Amino acid sequence: MTESKLFGIIAHPVHHSLSPVMHNAAFAELGLHHYYHAFDVQPLHLKAAIEAMKNLGIAGVNVSIPHKEKVIQYLDEIDDEAKAIGAVNTILLQEDGRLKGYNTDGAGYLQSLVAETEINLPQTKALLLGAGGASKGIAVYLIKHGCREITIANRTRNKAEELSIQLEEYMNDHGIVGKIACIEWKEASSSSINFNLIVNTTPIGMWPNIEIVPIHLDHLESNTIVSDIVYNPLQTLFLAQAEQKGARIHQGLEMFIYQGALAFEYFTGEKAPVDRMREVVLERLKQGG
Ligand code: ATR
Repeated sequence: MTESKLFGIIAHPVHHSLSPVMHNAAFAELGLHHYYHAFDVQPLHLKAAIEAMKNLGIAGVNVSIPHKEKVIQYLDEIDDEAKAIGAVNTILLQEDGRLKGYNTDGAGYLQSLVAETEINLPQTKALLLGAGGASKGIAVYLIKHGCREITIANRTRNKAEELSIQLEEYMNDHGIVGKIACIEWKEASSSSINFNLIVNTTPIGMWPNIEIVPIHLDHLESNTIVSDIVYNPLQTLFLAQAEQKGARIHQGLEMFIYQGALAFEYFTGEKAPVDRMREVVLERLKQGG
């Protein structure tokens, strides 16, 4: 019998998380006797929870809202991309007892976008709606894979400006020449015609507030891809409206599955059973999450 290891997710709140069902199904699919638990960790207890990982020998955890940035200070090592993004969503207890942080959100997004839409990133002009942690991870990976024009629209303008400075630094550090711009949140609807990838990285449209959209897509190029990181509901109103206007759409569920698959590969060293992971998450979402 293979060794049993304990994994989990630390978040607050955590009860709605679909990560346990997804990872436990993946372990079972590969005949691994590991277990993945949902740990509800309040911000005040984050440091103690990370120390407990070491002391209890918890082999790996995912990190979710609101801990992705604050957790960095408690880790022994951070992978380069996670450092550039400034957020960690996966922690591994290494054999030498040190904790290393990774970020699989941006990579998961990128892998799912390419797999689902066959997008040509060097030809892509992207509009990112939102300037939080998710937006940053996505932007870094779009740049890493060839996208050279990114515009950010955020409700709070100065957060968009800060993100654009960080992205320019990332490009300079990697010898990349590109264009990062910011526009007013209110301008984004009328500007949408200038972009061939539009990504909602905000929680707008997420259950139970499913009747709202981040922007009105008044004008779209026929080959525009519209992408939403919200995955509950699977088809947000934003995506439904984009589809009606003839855009190709990319659902948020895929980012969730692929970030989980990459974390699973860090956890186990095995290729993740992506189809099985998607199947159980879809089943659970159909039952109402
Ligand atoms: P995450 O790590 O999931 O990206 P975050 O860092 O809290 O979460 O970022 C949330 C993003 O959604 C922010 O860009 C936020 O805009 P502000 O910077 O103005 O707060 C955006 N957002 C959240 N709710 C929003 C709303 N109702 N309207 C517009 N933007 C919203």
